[in-house]
Amino acid sequence: MEIEEVLKWTDDQVFVKTGKHLDSLQKCILEEVWQGAKYPEIAEKCNRSEDHIKQVARKLWKLLSELLGEDVKKSNARSILESKAVSSIYNFGNSSQIVNSKINRSNINICGEKKQPLDDAQQRSHSPPDAPQSQNPSPIVDLTDAPELTNFYDRTSELSTLKEWILQARTRLITIYGLSGIGKSSIALKLIEEIQTEFDYIIWRSLSNPTTLSALQTELKQFFARSQQNPLPALIDYLRCDRCLVILDDVQNIFKSGQLAGQYLAEYDDYSKFFKQIATSSHQSCVILLSWEKPREVATLEAENRSTRTLHLKGLGEQAAEILREKGLTDEDNWSELIALYQGHPCWLKIIASTIQDLFNGSVSLFLAEQNEIFLGDLEHILESQLERLSESEKKVSYWLASQAEAVDISQPGDRELSKSEFWQIIQSLARRGLVEKVQMGARSHFHINPIFKAYIQSKLNHLTEKQL
Ligand SMILES: Nc1ncnc2c1ncn2[C@@H]1O[C@H](COP(=O)(O)OP(=O)(O)OP(=O)(O)O)[C@@H](O)[C@H]1O
Ligand SMILES: [Mg+2]
Repeated sequence: MEIEEVLKWTDDQVFVKTGKHLDSLQKCILEEVWQGAKYPEIAEKCNRSEDHIKQVARKLWKLLSELLGEDVKKSNARSILESKAVSSIYNFGNSSQIVNSKINRSNINICGEKKQPLDDAQQRSHSPPDAPQSQNPSPIVDLTDAPELTNFYDRTSELSTLKEWILQARTRLITIYGLSGIGKSSIALKLIEEIQTEFDYIIWRSLSNPTTLSALQTELKQFFARSQQNPLPALIDYLRCDRCLVILDDVQNIFKSGQLAGQYLAEYDDYSKFFKQIATSSHQSCVILLSWEKPREVATLEAENRSTRTLHLKGLGEQAAEILREKGLTDEDNWSELIALYQGHPCWLKIIASTIQDLFNGSVSLFLAEQNEIFLGDLEHILESQLERLSESEKKVSYWLASQAEAVDISQPGDRELSKSEFWQIIQSLARRGLVEKVQMGARSHFHINPIFKAYIQSKLNHLTEKQL
């Protein structure tokens, strides 16, 4: 096995466990140890003192020992890593027949010959639906497309909801949607860290530069085919044979801009059928979609109770204080006010915290004292990138909502040009983007636009009026 493959595998394992990738020095040490180099030679190759190398190596062996469940040292690092990576990646050995009796009710052996028994996967496949599921200590993981998980706070309740859906309810299709920067990718990475051993395969693919569905399916099939001697006919067959977790990130890129939320671009229209198949076909895997917009058919599948769940991800709440602490802000008594103002949105708070550092030397109370209107600064271009995706009618309604002092009762006529049904459809679409939220007032639902977007729209309108004067 090549060192590059082992390094990549080791890096994936470290990342899943710690949320951090191996740094360049750790990689250099592993590469040199692989070649059989001694510490003085490694020090020379990696351009560091021998003492420093020994210190970093000691920590690295400790981390790998915890990760792999064996006492990893310089003398045995190569053999342990190689054997663990080989058994995880290639699954060589005796082939065995797996009949997926739980999924494949007709008892046809669609799963075919495996290159090597994936013991836990087999057990999972044979066990009755309600049996406790065994764990797979070394799932095959590909997170090359995923962003890096840095410091992560809270999300306890969202994580336990997601775990309940995936592990207890065995939900097949989950959508996590919400504003840009709210933490969709981060929570998905944290989730992987916590439930990885429940799966045989975990793969993350970003649709930031979307591929056709058939290209994506081919890529996924190749990844899942590692334990199959003979290729299976379709992706869904792999999802039946093994417990696979697929994360599709940045899904909004397969939707049209300038239309109501969740409408597919013509070239990606077949994704709609694919998502429907994931939710309605019998299999033991889970696909998680991360998106700015809730896909059109997801709402329908959810309404029909077809193994589909949706999580609208909102702000972090009080735990966002950790972000302010990390940024070195002062006046802790005022942090709650700042967090409420920016709705605990982690990315917005990071950006505003940098401004507070730049302009007020970190003082939150000085920053808040200067506010007569919500300060947006560097947030504007992020907000604009979301607003520019709206349809013309959504823009009109957003501007109208931004001019309202209170949340509106949508059953009241108001001074709107749209018919009631058009108006309701638009409100629903804005809600599917997380831009409009519902507040319950007695028996009636009222809707309001997100206050930061409201402030942004108002500032745009003010600029327009100033220009016209
Ligand atoms: N729970 C959290 N604790 C600390 N920081 C967080 C948390 N969630 C998100 N962040 C930070 O907020 C920023 C945005 O997070 P992330 O990239 O996950 O958002 P996103 O919803 O995936 O955004 P996009 O839709 O634009 O891809 C990142 O810097 C991330 O580190
Ligand atoms: Mg993301």
